[in-house]
Amino acid sequence: MKTKWTNLLTSALCAALWVASPTHAQGTSGKPRVIEITGNDQMKYSINEITAKPGESLEVVLTNVGQLPKAAMSHNWVLLKPMTDAEIATFASSAMTKAPDYIPDDTSSIIAHTKTLGSKETDKVDFTAPTKPGEYPFICTFPGHYALMHGKLIVK
Ligand code: CO
Repeated sequence: MKTKWTNLLTSALCAALWVASPTHAQGTSGKPRVIEITGNDQMKYSINEITAKPGESLEVVLTNVGQLPKAAMSHNWVLLKPMTDAEIATFASSAMTKAPDYIPDDTSSIIAHTKTLGSKETDKVDFTAPTKPGEYPFICTFPGHYALMHGKLIVK
């Protein structure tokens, strides 16, 4: 009888701890943290650095706030696995010929990406931050943009 009550008490305590746990409160079952980014006619993102916890649930909302025609000035947001600047340049080259989305055939180095957006268009992408701490580059792959439109997701 004593053992049974001890087990019951232990179970109740574990349940209480699980509910109170910060990991549970911020876990993947919850709503993602929303990060709003804009891109403009000057080829600039409003945010160039995002910090996230390993495995954090995120939602990037990208809006093109520019006025120029879509064919002249579009933006996307492409999050990549860690790579060197030279590798980013190679990736951007492979993407820039792939109108209208500017996503290369080989997507193995892409973690998440939005659509390519014309003036006043918005798209969002939900993803889980990598579990491995590090710096993950993001770029706009519209032709000629990545040199100005780039940033990094810092997982720590
Ligand atoms: Co762009």
